Amino acid sequence: MCGIIGVVGMPNAASALVKGLKRLEYRGYDSAGIAVVTGKGLEIQRAVGAVANLERQAAPLGTVGIGHTRWATHGPPTEANSHPHRDCSERLAVVHNGIVENYQELREGLQARGHRLLSQTDTEVLAHLIEERYHGDLLAAVQETLPLIEGSYGLVVVSADAPDRIVCARMRSPLLLGVGQGQMLLASDATALLEHTRSVVFLEDGETAELTQERVRLFDAHRKPKIPVVRELPWNLEAAEKGGFDHFMLKEIHEIPEALHEVFRGRLGMAGDRFDVEGALPESALRGAQRILVLACGTSYYAGMVGRSIVEQLAGVPVDVQLASEYRYAPQTTQEGTLAIFVSQSGETADTLEAMRRARASGCRTLAMVNVVGSTLAREAEGVFYLRAGPEIGVASTKAFVNMVGGFYLLGLHLGATRGHLTPDECKRLAGEMRTLPRLAQRALETAGDVAPLAGEFFHGAEHAFYLGRQINHGLAMEGALKIKEISYLHAEGYAAGELKHGPLALLTPDFPVVVALSDKEPTYGVMVSNIGEVRARGAKVLAIATETDANVHKHVDHVVRVPASDPLFYPVPACVALYLLAYHAARGRGCNIDRPRNLAKSVTVE
Ligand code: F6R
Repeated sequence: MCGIIGVVGMPNAASALVKGLKRLEYRGYDSAGIAVVTGKGLEIQRAVGAVANLERQAAPLGTVGIGHTRWATHGPPTEANSHPHRDCSERLAVVHNGIVENYQELREGLQARGHRLLSQTDTEVLAHLIEERYHGDLLAAVQETLPLIEGSYGLVVVSADAPDRIVCARMRSPLLLGVGQGQMLLASDATALLEHTRSVVFLEDGETAELTQERVRLFDAHRKPKIPVVRELPWNLEAAEKGGFDHFMLKEIHEIPEALHEVFRGRLGMAGDRFDVEGALPESALRGAQRILVLACGTSYYAGMVGRSIVEQLAGVPVDVQLASEYRYAPQTTQEGTLAIFVSQSGETADTLEAMRRARASGCRTLAMVNVVGSTLAREAEGVFYLRAGPEIGVASTKAFVNMVGGFYLLGLHLGATRGHLTPDECKRLAGEMRTLPRLAQRALETAGDVAPLAGEFFHGAEHAFYLGRQINHGLAMEGALKIKEISYLHAEGYAAGELKHGPLALLTPDFPVVVALSDKEPTYGVMVSNIGEVRARGAKVLAIATETDANVHKHVDHVVRVPASDPLFYPVPACVALYLLAYHAARGRGCNIDRPRNLAKSVTVE
């Protein structure tokens, strides 16, 4: 989950590295460090905490260097545990993202052979193992080291003895190369490269590369040279900046209408007969699926829960949604006839990737629904549907969730149309409503825009909260609760509203706020109102995210945040805008670090 960067041929490598690290901070912010090749050898700077702490130190002068921002896995966030890590000669430095699973054994071996290891990290062994194999060819030393490593790595190495180059390797941890004019770069994420270039090469598992100012030498897992395929990234730098908002999260909430517009752009045929999948997945695998299995983690899993309701309603296909982290270890059953859909913003989530490999081995057809173009999931699945939400920097996912839901609307419409579950008139009506969703989200930003004072008041003094919804709004309630707990540290649970009386109702007191997501036209409106009554009878206060046309709800709750009315199928879109604003303002009122919640990282590349 750490962020890594490397540069060759930069007039001021240190400043380019630090700038790149700032863009990668969402991957980890326990510590940061750089190593630059200078006239004196290798100069290393490291600092605990944010990249800004590193920036205060005087920058070493050089054109080649590597950098790292850490999300701690082995050893606490101290300077000694910060990357880059050195070998005994201090002429070689390594940054690493991933986990060396056999590091204990490797470490003992190194110590027995006289190496001095100074940190508690798994990474440091890599520097010493490469040192042992370095006889004047850095690339060969790295390639000879890799077979010793069990685990995952995005690995970058620099040496004072090979001052014009950096060497990198990838195994189950993202890494891409940036090809510039007289400059070469690499990073764990595209956002760190965009200032310099949009031309990139995605590394595959097992590949190694050597970057000098003029060229990239790429090698496959058998160390055979390979021609790098350069692709153009569809994002620009402006899209990765805050654009005047105080936080990336707030900016990204305001980008929801535009993101939705993008997910539907050119994909909403009246007849619903197109579903825009890139890759080798045949249309028959979509159309002919007997069952759909959605696998994902966190917010993406909740998008899958919402997606289940959408696809079952529109297409009549049974949909199962499972946590990728559980599925990957579950007993394997044959799943012929199953279309497995992997939902992910980053496309790099380790559990989702492993779930995909597992599902494929069980006979599922595989479709990735991802945001990051060229990510591992996108490349390994048979087909990919791109979410087109643009770069999402805030650790808490927002616009990507909405576009995942948008993707399920398109899939549901497509399957409903092609399998004859929807009539042409129904398809036309639904496509027309989908076309209005960006506007609906825009209106929700207005109707719920002034929620800040209410967010402060409603959660004031509370330590716990419930978020309730039914059917399509159950996943939405789960997502609302996750968002508030991760950014404001208020403990919140999402529940299917009917489940409360089976136990959790016992927790309710007047200090226990409850948020309900309900649309006035949903078939379960009546029972939702009864559930609200049960909650209020225990003295708990209730805030409803309700539609503008709901003339009844205010009689039953303490507060109402209005969102524009729609078919209940589409209510999750405006409602999640309101839930996100509520969470954002509650966290802001509590003085939390919204874009960088404690203990979390944007891209979870460890299991
Ligand atoms: C929460 C959040 C996480 C991610 C999860 C999966 O706001 O962002 O729960 O949804 O880590 O990440 P992706 O979608 O990249 O697979």
